[in-house]
Amino acid sequence: MKLQKTCATLVLGMQYGDEGKGKLIDVLSEDADAVYRVQGGHNAGHTIWVDGQKIVTHLMPSGILRSKCKVGIGAGVVVDPFILKEEIHNIESKGYSVDANRLSVDYRASVILPYHKNMDHIKETERSQHAVQKIGTTGKGIGPAYASRAYRENLRMAELIDETLLRSFFATHPLLTEHMDSEALNKLIEVGQFLKPFVKDVSLEANANLRANKRVLLEGAQGVMLDVSYGTYPYVTSSNLIAGSCPGGLGIAPWKLTEVIGVIKAYSTRVGNGPYPAELKDKIGEDLRKKGHEFGTVTGRPRSVGWLDLFSLSYFAELNGLTQLALMKSDVLCGFGPVGLVVGYKNKDTHQDITRYPMTTQEWAQVEPIVEFVDGWDELCVNDELTAKFKKFVHRVEKYTNVPVTYISLGAERDEGMWLH
Ligand code: GDP
Ligand code: IMO
Ligand code: MG
Repeated sequence: MKLQKTCATLVLGMQYGDEGKGKLIDVLSEDADAVYRVQGGHNAGHTIWVDGQKIVTHLMPSGILRSKCKVGIGAGVVVDPFILKEEIHNIESKGYSVDANRLSVDYRASVILPYHKNMDHIKETERSQHAVQKIGTTGKGIGPAYASRAYRENLRMAELIDETLLRSFFATHPLLTEHMDSEALNKLIEVGQFLKPFVKDVSLEANANLRANKRVLLEGAQGVMLDVSYGTYPYVTSSNLIAGSCPGGLGIAPWKLTEVIGVIKAYSTRVGNGPYPAELKDKIGEDLRKKGHEFGTVTGRPRSVGWLDLFSLSYFAELNGLTQLALMKSDVLCGFGPVGLVVGYKNKDTHQDITRYPMTTQEWAQVEPIVEFVDGWDELCVNDELTAKFKKFVHRVEKYTNVPVTYISLGAERDEGMWLH
C-alpha cells in the first residue's frame, strides 16, 4: 500500500496490545515523512526486526529506523524523561541517527516523575488488599501521571527543560517536594537540559507537514480493548486509545485522519488481568504461547493466549471506523490444526446469546465464548498467492467485520509481508 498524501493514517491495535503495530509502522515508514506517538507512554513495547537485528521502541516512534522519516511525541503522551534519554542512546548505539532534526517532543506532553512509579505500585497493592484483583499494570507510573495531569498538577516538558520554571514548579507543588529531594531535582534538571533541543510544538509541526502534502502516520499504542473508556474497565490502561481520541493526542483536526488501519494477530493475547473470554487455558494455549514467543516486551510476563475474537473485533471496527485490517502472526498457526474464531458470546448460565458488548466486570463474568473452527493451514502462501485454507480464514475475518484485510504479515522481519487488494 502507498500512503496517501495530504492525509494522516492511523495504525491502531485492535486487541489487548502487542498485535505487531511496531512492525507495521516500520513497514509503512518506508513511504512516510513523519510518524507520531499520540498517547500512552513506555508501557508500550514495539518490536521491529531488521536483518536479524531486534529493536524495541517504547516512547520512540517506530519510524525512527527510516532515515528520511521524522518522528514526534505528541502532547497526549506521558514521558519518562530518563527512559527517553536511555532510548535515544540505545537507538543511536544500534547505528540510527536521533538528532533534534528528526525527533521532536511536544512542550505540553506530561512528565512521568519517579513518585508516579511508586504510586503505581502502591495503588496495585491497595487493590489486592481490598479483595479486588490487581489491574496488572506495567508498573511504569502511567496511570498516576495521567491522574496528576487530570488534577492539573503535573509537570510538563515545557517546565522540565527550563531550570527556573522547574525550580519554581517544585516550590509551588508541595506534593512533589515531599516525594523528591534536591538530588532528585538535580537529576531532573540535568535530563531536562539533555532533552531541551528536542522539545518543540509538535502539533504545529504535524499540521505543517500535512499542509505540505507530506505523508503522516500516527502510531497507536496498546490496543482498543484496553481503552480507558471503551475497554474492559477497570482492567485497562489510563488513556483513551480509540481512533476518535488520537488526533487530539497530536493536535490535528479529526478530518485529517482519513485511513485507520486496525492491527490484529491471527489469534489473541493479553498481559495483565481482566476479562478474556477467548482465552485458552489448556495445552493449545500453552503451545501457542511458546510457538508465538508470547512473553511481554516490557515486563517479560507470559502473555495469556486465546483465539481471535471476531465478536469484539467487529464492535471495535465500527467504533474506530476501520478502513483496513493488517493481519499479523498467521505463520505461528502453520501446522497447528483447526483454528478457532470467537463468533459470539453467550450467557454462561442461561446459554442465551449476548448481543450487547459487555460493560461491567459482572457482565464479563457471565460471558462464555461461541467458538467456530476453520481448517488450519500448513502454509500461508505459495508463489505469492495465499493458500486456499488460509484464504478462507482471511475471508471469514473480512466477512464478519466488513473490513478488508490489506496486509498479511508473514514473519517478524521487515520484508516478510504482502499487501492485498
Ligand atoms: P506491538 O506492541 O503491537 O508493536 O507488538 P510487540 O512488539 O509487543 O509484539 C509483537 C511480537 O510479534 C514481536 O515480537 C514481533 O517481532 C512479532 N511479530 C510481528 N509480526 C509477526 C509475524 O507476522 N509473525 C511472527 N512470527 N512474529 C511477528
Ligand atoms: P503495546 O503498545 C500490552 C496493559 C498492562 C495492564 C494494563 C494497564 O506494546 O501494545 P498500564 O501500565 O498501562 O497502567 O497497565 O494495560 N498494557 C499493555 N498490554 N501491550 C501494551 O502496549 C500495553 N500497555 C499497557 O499489561 O494490563
Ligand atoms: Mg508491545
